[in-house]
Amino acid sequence: MTRVAVFPGSFDPMTNAHLDVARRASGLFDRLVIGVLNNPKKEPMFGIDERVALIGRSVADLGAHVTVDAFDGLTVNFAKRHGAGFIVRGLRAVSDFEAELQMALTNRKLAPEIDTTFLMTALEYGYVSSSLTKEVARFGGDIGPMVPAPVAEALVERLRAGPRV
Ligand code: PNS
Repeated sequence: MTRVAVFPGSFDPMTNAHLDVARRASGLFDRLVIGVLNNPKKEPMFGIDERVALIGRSVADLGAHVTVDAFDGLTVNFAKRHGAGFIVRGLRAVSDFEAELQMALTNRKLAPEIDTTFLMTALEYGYVSSSLTKEVARFGGDIGPMVPAPVAEALVERLRAGPRV
């Protein structure tokens, strides 16, 4: 049996905590599709194509069974389109749990055949979030330990170039 999982998120941008989860999941599943949500209600720092490309470069060493795809709408429909039986989400701390439980149970109600699996990020990335990384970058702090190298370069470049119009 081929085990397929999707790992959905906003990934604005991908952090080392996300990458750690992707790495762990890549060892557990035959195929892993990282799903980047295109949410028209949010104004991301990076457009959908940029986020997909940055993740692609960041996970390049995980193997050909790890791919990246943009999606909109429901995560369970994205999972079904890819023939996935599992949704992967990362947990950094207890504070993540409540919202994740709510999402997992909502997704189970929508698609009982798809299970959410949680992976704990490495302790060293427990503090890392996309929003705090952007804040640190905005004020010139060192984001090297927080995000993959391609993301760090893109963040510095984006902030140097000014906001997108
Ligand atoms: O990286 P994030 O912002 O924590 O990811 C949240 C995400 C994208 C997984 C969640 O918002 C989501 O699944 N959105 C798609 C819409 C959906 O399926 N909603 C119902 C279940 S939560």
